[in-house]
Amino acid sequence: MRILLLGSGGREHALAWKISQSPLCEQLFIAPGNAGTANCGTNLTISVTDFESIKTACIKEKIDLVIVGPEEPLVKGVTDFLISDPQLKHLDVIGPDKAGAQLEGSKAFAKAFMMRHNIPTAAYKEFTLENYQEGVEYIQKHPLPIVMKADGLAAGKGVVICENYLEAIAEFDLMIQRAKFGEASKRVVIEQYLDGIEISVFVLMDGKNYVILPEAKDYKRIGEGDTGPNTGGMGAISPVPFANEALMKKIEEKVIKPTVSGLIAEGLEYRGFIFFGFMIVNDEPYMIEYNCRMGDPETEVVIPRLKNDLVELLAAVSAQQLDKVKIETDPRTVCTVVAVSGGYPGDYSKGHEIKGLADINPEDSMLFHMGTTLQNGKAITNGGRVFCVTSYGKSVFDAVEISKEELQKVSFIGMEYRSDIGYEFE
Ligand code: AMP
Ligand code: GLY
Repeated sequence: MRILLLGSGGREHALAWKISQSPLCEQLFIAPGNAGTANCGTNLTISVTDFESIKTACIKEKIDLVIVGPEEPLVKGVTDFLISDPQLKHLDVIGPDKAGAQLEGSKAFAKAFMMRHNIPTAAYKEFTLENYQEGVEYIQKHPLPIVMKADGLAAGKGVVICENYLEAIAEFDLMIQRAKFGEASKRVVIEQYLDGIEISVFVLMDGKNYVILPEAKDYKRIGEGDTGPNTGGMGAISPVPFANEALMKKIEEKVIKPTVSGLIAEGLEYRGFIFFGFMIVNDEPYMIEYNCRMGDPETEVVIPRLKNDLVELLAAVSAQQLDKVKIETDPRTVCTVVAVSGGYPGDYSKGHEIKGLADINPEDSMLFHMGTTLQNGKAITNGGRVFCVTSYGKSVFDAVEISKEELQKVSFIGMEYRSDIGYEFE
């Protein structure tokens, strides 16, 4: 099979690493990829939202399967664009069409979907410029803290948790009246704050059937002990120690099954990954959000625990035969620790050479590139999150210790990382 993977993060490096191990993969292309994916296949200099160039590459390279990594092209309709093209009749795409991608592309759509299918989630109301004043009154009567969410995609910055009314109304004004996130915040979801512990669960769906992949927990805050601003994710672990059989069963019965049957009932033929973000409150799962893709850095711990051949699994999605697949999981604990550019998630510099990449001990660890690019054959920094080191271990503590030890062999100017990933489970 000839495969094109879209994206350029750690998620894509982990997927490319796994795909390139499959005997079913004849050739792998990654667009645009990073310095790490270049070791797993051929990088193509094409942006993930340049649909015409993606189509041209599919024709030129005789691609059989396109896997879409990030949400932006999915929400913009890359799947619809490719599968409706008469020149690409034989092509399969992993990633939902525009209608299915609304699960992530519109928080208001996702919340209404959860309501229609009795999926446990925080109470909410949505507002636009038309009922702005009603929104202000709603905020004034709402218990604190208040969660405010821009409806559309906002590069992971669209959720604001407000501790007082002044801040909440100012944020509401910024989003709706001053278009803080452009079109994305013309509609705002105001939501009840849930106090609990987060976990992410991943499902692969073929339009009819689904399988559940290993669960993960990511660490979003920049600072040790979960302090400071949110990031894309500073580390992740899998399995999650508190995700016992009883909790996973509740998650499947109360959320996954109604989501899958809801998608089918609404005629959304969803083929791709669904990321379920949960808040667990008193042992009960509440849905925080859907994403129409895998997580990053969650993929960098989920994929190393997946024993199945990923290409075989994705071929089963295309054939709508996931009911015939059994997911095999590595029982070891896996963790990843992310190295970031100093200043991230604020301003940071790029273009620094990364040294020591080849020194990682491949026995228990692997290094996935995130924001890197090749310049004259050398890997240089090209983003806030630069790379992560994933390790297998006997426990969370053990796996994190191994990752930190390996991480110290690699360096670039301004490199920082959190040394306390998995701290609650020590
Ligand atoms: P999202 O952009 O939807 O992933 O939300 C970002 C983060 O905001 C989540 O990972 C949670 O930590 C937090 N969050 C979102 N919704 C809620 C909520 N209703 N209650 C508490 N925290 C929330
Ligand atoms: N790590 C969170 C995400 O991928 O959305």
